[in-house]
Amino acid sequence: MQEQTETLFDTQFEEEVHIGLTDYPKHLSSKYFYDEKGDKLFQDIMNMPEYYLTDAEFDILSTHTDEITRLFSKDEKHFNLIELGAGDGKKTKILLQNLIDNKIDFNYLPIDISQHVLDQLSRSLKIEIPEVVVETQQGTYFEALNEIASLTNDKKIILFLGSNIGNLLHLQAIEFLSQVQKLMGDDDLFFVGFDQKKDPQTILDAYNDQTGITAAFNKNILARINSELGGNFDLDKFLHWEVYDPETGTAKSYLVSKEQQSVTVAKLGLKINFAPWETIHTEISQKYDHRTIEWLAEKSDLQIVTQFTDSKNQYKNYVFRTV
Ligand code: AVJ
Repeated sequence: MQEQTETLFDTQFEEEVHIGLTDYPKHLSSKYFYDEKGDKLFQDIMNMPEYYLTDAEFDILSTHTDEITRLFSKDEKHFNLIELGAGDGKKTKILLQNLIDNKIDFNYLPIDISQHVLDQLSRSLKIEIPEVVVETQQGTYFEALNEIASLTNDKKIILFLGSNIGNLLHLQAIEFLSQVQKLMGDDDLFFVGFDQKKDPQTILDAYNDQTGITAAFNKNILARINSELGGNFDLDKFLHWEVYDPETGTAKSYLVSKEQQSVTVAKLGLKINFAPWETIHTEISQKYDHRTIEWLAEKSDLQIVTQFTDSKNQYKNYVFRTV
């Protein structure tokens, strides 16, 4: 029998929550936003007028559909279209439909941290584009690398849309891009969405909407700790707070304790004290400029093949190949 690494925790969620809430300053990972309720809240965010990212990428993909199809299929080789963080696939469906219309030979392999959203995606594809051969895989981005590694001999087109890369600090992004690069062959392409630096107010509005959808999304991580780990967080005693640094391009989300309070998390045997206005950092949503993307690519041994911009110049998709 194989030896198990000993751990005090049943799940990675438990371990990370324990570490994050006993650290100073406190932090929790945004990857835990996405349970069934979080998936729904994120879909609501994508439909908000303030959250320009989805519309911008939708604009790019629908304007340049034929060009992207040609780019993916010019050598006429069968390929695996691997999507990291596929979500509901709303934008990807434009490409999928066009690939099908052009009788391109490919399989679609969406990977997401949420099994719930993957089930939704395969169900909707069966109805909307039944010709697509789909195989879903649940997991984190880093777990997805193993899935990609198992496909090394086939041509791969890897999609990483929605500025999902923005959840990674630059050094983590370089590590991740490098790991993908190591799995790429000469024919492979890596298609990545990067939200761009812009009027700081536009960014703050996108992450701090008046209706409170983003606040509910951010607090959903506390709701998850309550329901899955026996926590007793009072969500009303926390404030959603967003900051954006126009120099670094980093938007950061926090949950701020409005008062002195203690919270217990039964499953972890934890009692956590909050000083008034103490913070929990929950997410980063990095914004980029061309120089930064060139630097990330260079550090990861990737070469920029081409780039696409939306009509309002808010967002870009870059296509990379390995050097
Ligand atoms: C899914 C990570 C791209 O950072 O813009 C939306 C998540 N957070 N509103 C982003 C999010 C708050 C989103 N990503």
